[in-house]
Amino acid sequence: MINYKLMFACSKDGFIAKKQGDNPQLWTSKEDKELLKNNLEKIDWTIMGRVTHELNPNIDRKRIVFTRKVQEPQIINPEIKNQIYFNPDINQISDLENIIGKNSNVLILGGTRVHDFFLYIDVISEIEITLEPLVFEKGLPAFSFINFKDLEDLLISRNYKKREKYLNESTILINYSR
Ligand SMILES: NC(=O)c1ccc[n+]([C@@H]2O[C@H](COP(=O)([O-])OP(=O)(O)OC[C@H]3O[C@@H](n4cnc5c(N)ncnc54)[C@H](OP(=O)(O)O)[C@@H]3O)[C@@H](O)[C@H]2O)c1
Repeated sequence: MINYKLMFACSKDGFIAKKQGDNPQLWTSKEDKELLKNNLEKIDWTIMGRVTHELNPNIDRKRIVFTRKVQEPQIINPEIKNQIYFNPDINQISDLENIIGKNSNVLILGGTRVHDFFLYIDVISEIEITLEPLVFEKGLPAFSFINFKDLEDLLISRNYKKREKYLNESTILINYSR
């Protein structure tokens, strides 16, 4: 079975970026950066949207990159074997799972509509949210089809258990798992 984990950092009011192109590394805590690094060491594949991919090039990571540019899964750069464009409007989740392999650990890394997609199809076993002590008031929301404040009720209704701890004096890590 494929294990899907979603992680993101956001402001207290649920924004993952101040605007498209904003680099969260500029406002996330060192503890969150460490958490991301630890998660990346444990997984087989990452999944992200095209913009996040282009903002964070890394030739060594296995990536599925969502885009509407392609009709069929397609290698992004012939020199990098394990980075693949995938269009979920046209190709099915089973096609995605055939690429990443049966017992893979997958880390979903944004942005908004990639979060939406996986929350909607309800395959995520763990969600890790770093809540930084910041308020943006506007920007890119963590999800677009649900208000961030309603996320917890949705996840509890789907049998996730919530755990919470401080990563430092003011940054909170919220973990939902099932
Ligand atoms: N705080 C965090 O933890 C965190 C995490 C990740 C990203 N970010 C930030 O968020 C921003 C990027 O997020 P974003 O939401 O603007 O963009 P994004 O999700 O990274 O990329 C958007 C693009 O991905 C493709 N895409 C996304 N969902 C799709 C779907 N369901 N089906 C088909 N294609 C899909 C489309 O590509 P095409 O246009 O090619 O069709 C879309 O234009 C950046 O500033 C990044 O730094 C923050």
